[in-house]
Amino acid sequence: MVVDAHRRVIAIDGPAGAGKSTIAKALSARLHMKYLDTGAMYRAVTFEAMLHELDLSDQDVVTKLAQECDLHVGIDRVIINGHDATAAIRGPEVTGNVSKVAANSGVRTEMRIRQQEWASAHGGGVIEGRDIATVVFPNAVLKVFLTASPAVRAQRRVDQDGGDVAQIAAAIAERDLLDSTRADSPLASSSDSVVVDTSDRAIDDVVDEIEQLFVERSK
Ligand code: DC
Repeated sequence: MVVDAHRRVIAIDGPAGAGKSTIAKALSARLHMKYLDTGAMYRAVTFEAMLHELDLSDQDVVTKLAQECDLHVGIDRVIINGHDATAAIRGPEVTGNVSKVAANSGVRTEMRIRQQEWASAHGGGVIEGRDIATVVFPNAVLKVFLTASPAVRAQRRVDQDGGDVAQIAAAIAERDLLDSTRADSPLASSSDSVVVDTSDRAIDDVVDEIEQLFVERSK
């Protein structure tokens, strides 16, 4: 049963600004599948740790928080321990610290368990992150690694959240480096992922391609 649910996962991985959220949400709507943003889970733990002024480099303390927190990540609301963190998790403070929390193995283990439980409870879904294909759902029916050029990715973030394009580009590059060089489940494409460059493509066009791949894999 559980393994079947995991096979009904579409894994969408890739770096910041590659278009994961937009594309994964559109796909989930088209295919009538649930959607999970695993980055929001790491962001929410970071938010809660900062709220309690925890030392983010204290792995045990932050792991304990991750294990004990009541966390709800919905399509348009993120609630942790009763706090609505929806807006705050997108702010610069959380964005600047989340890579540190995401590099904590204790936190990752806990988030991985929750992600797998979520898929079992919902019979699969469209799940976006960094290690979804490589580590969390190695049996996913379809694995997609989205990429885009650094300039396009920075511009998308500026269009979405405002800010200075050069600063955002530098911050993205730093986060990519931390995410892809950490010891535990770094950002990487899986050998069986379909790599899709979204730089010069319309969203609908990319969603069409992934939908088609899913239909073929599901036959
Ligand atoms: O996708 P995002 O920018 O919201 O992700 C926030 C951070 O969480 C980012 O630094 C990478 C990390 N992350 C991760 O390590 N593993 C995931 N499955 C999802 C996100």
